[in-house]
Amino acid sequence: MRYFIGNWKMFGVPKSINILNKINSFYSKDKNRKKYRVIITPPYTLIETFSKHFKSKKISIGSQNCYQKDQFSSNTAAISPFMIRSVGAKYTLVGHSDNRVEGDTNIMLKNKVHFALKNNLKVVFCIGENRADKKKKKTFSVLKKQITKVLDKKMNLNNIIVAYEPIWSIGTGNIPTENELFKTTLYIKKILKSINKKKRPLVLYGGSVDGKNVKMFKEIREIDGFLIGGASKSHKKFIDIIKNYYR
Ligand code: PGA
Repeated sequence: MRYFIGNWKMFGVPKSINILNKINSFYSKDKNRKKYRVIITPPYTLIETFSKHFKSKKISIGSQNCYQKDQFSSNTAAISPFMIRSVGAKYTLVGHSDNRVEGDTNIMLKNKVHFALKNNLKVVFCIGENRADKKKKKTFSVLKKQITKVLDKKMNLNNIIVAYEPIWSIGTGNIPTENELFKTTLYIKKILKSINKKKRPLVLYGGSVDGKNVKMFKEIREIDGFLIGGASKSHKKFIDIIKNYYR
């Protein structure tokens, strides 16, 4: 099973549901539809409407983040996993680099993952090295730290999807080479296995994925899908990625 996850970031108003309607009608007619899932993470403001609308359909809705506490608390503007689940989301991103730069620490991320799983949200846990790490050949050690400081054996790793998103690739049009990506994906899977031998969390790639470069990614069978930012805001670009992946 492959995953195509669209991360809308700070984009979308209620009428943007038209984009999802178009993706959904493509999906429901696509001969390859049994091979993949589509998940969209709109801003918090749209989760409830979108979840209700797509309840009986195949598109699932997720949040882009969640607060590191369980249910209710006195933290202004915070939204907990419990609240996110209550409006129909099934997934949440945790640890996107946009939120790491704004102060998400490993301890916070660990709590987010823990409470998200507790509230029956599947977690898309984002990791990735920055340009300086890559230059200093520290990619593997950075990724290892990001994973092992947050994920542990007590968590149900079957409900966690890891999204490898090199920070230098997000929104830049630059992507890793096929060889780099192959090695990195295998390495991530190895680290995950060292946490729990019995579970096999999926590993996605994210960073400037588009309808053209997706053909290269498809050669790397270890990649279980994609986290797509910019191209997920246009139904045409998003559908092109899926079409070209299976072409
Ligand atoms: P991008 O974003 O596809 O626009 O590079 C990916 C992401 O930040 O999740």
